[in-house]
Amino acid sequence: METKRIYIDSQAPEPEIIEEAAKLIREGQLVAFPTETVYGLGANALNAEACAEIFKVKGRPQDNPLIVHVSNLEMVKSLVVGWNEQAERCARAFWPGPLTLVLPKTAIIPDAVSAGLSSVGIRMPNHPVALSLIEKAGVPIAAPSANLSGKPSPTNGIHVWKDLRGRIPYILDGGACNVGVESTVLDLTGEIPCILRPGGITKERLEKILGEVAVDHPSENQLPKAPGMKYRHYAPKGELYLLIGEREKILARMTDEIHKAHARLKKVGILCTLESASSLHSQLPELLFVLGSEERPEEVAASLYEGLRLCDEQSIDIILAEGVAKNGLGFAIMNRLEKASGQKIWYV
Ligand code: TXA
Ligand code: MG
Repeated sequence: METKRIYIDSQAPEPEIIEEAAKLIREGQLVAFPTETVYGLGANALNAEACAEIFKVKGRPQDNPLIVHVSNLEMVKSLVVGWNEQAERCARAFWPGPLTLVLPKTAIIPDAVSAGLSSVGIRMPNHPVALSLIEKAGVPIAAPSANLSGKPSPTNGIHVWKDLRGRIPYILDGGACNVGVESTVLDLTGEIPCILRPGGITKERLEKILGEVAVDHPSENQLPKAPGMKYRHYAPKGELYLLIGEREKILARMTDEIHKAHARLKKVGILCTLESASSLHSQLPELLFVLGSEERPEEVAASLYEGLRLCDEQSIDIILAEGVAKNGLGFAIMNRLEKASGQKIWYV
């Protein structure tokens, strides 16, 4: 299949381009599009066959439900039952934005979207291209991240192109995504709202408007409530080690590990904060990727997947990643790094 990658103005999307993409969605085809978090691989959420195609194209496990994207609150009403006070507050405070609300679904949502669950995740993305595409298509759009399953999510159009070229007809390329990590998935089906996946909207911000908010912490013999969280996502090909502790100790351990890896002729990639970069630079790792300042976790979030992808592209064998503080957006960043490491965590 030939894949068209079309540049689009992310602030003022050209109507004729949106119309071309919206027509494909209406016809049951797949279109990749930018959101503020990561790129999505979209299909008409009410078309079971089109949604089934998403799973094929990504190589996505069948038990992992898709998020449905809407462009206005009217659209939501036909998709969920029990839109409650909590949902209303969340929508008013954070939509459009990086928050997915899980609520009981109506029969209009095909099983292919909800992967057999009785609930559905809904989100209104904060991106002019995504919003106008949904609006013009006139249907809600089901979209997972537009990567091949198991790869880091795409945060620019080239990432999508590299993963899905030849597999889908159309990519709307609106440049880089601002947030860079996926939306927070919040379960509103129980009494206490529960974060199933940390993401762009922090727990602290949710607590301000909802009061108590729980976090799903699956234990060894209990599966996570978001089916996708059981998979080792975001994984680069190299072995990633996550280092947590005081800066001086992290720097010392990384220096040591760089030398050990070099002795074994392994290529080393470092993912670190701006504050650590100059000390590590002089140790000559094959790749030194500065995620951003520890003072500005939003920078770290926005560049994280680019860093992981670069490690793959440069065939890095050993990746040493510096942990960040686990509050605010740092909670989502550390969740992704922990997964990328396959739980290879060094407390130094
Ligand atoms: O920011 C995002 O959320 C991006 C953009 C494209 O919107 N989308 C995204 O989709 O990250 P995906 O499919 O890569 O991740 C969706 C996550 C998975 O972990 C899935 O299991 C969970 O949300 N999820 C979806 N519907 C759910 C439901 N009804 N109940 C529990 N978890 C659900
Ligand atoms: Mg994904």
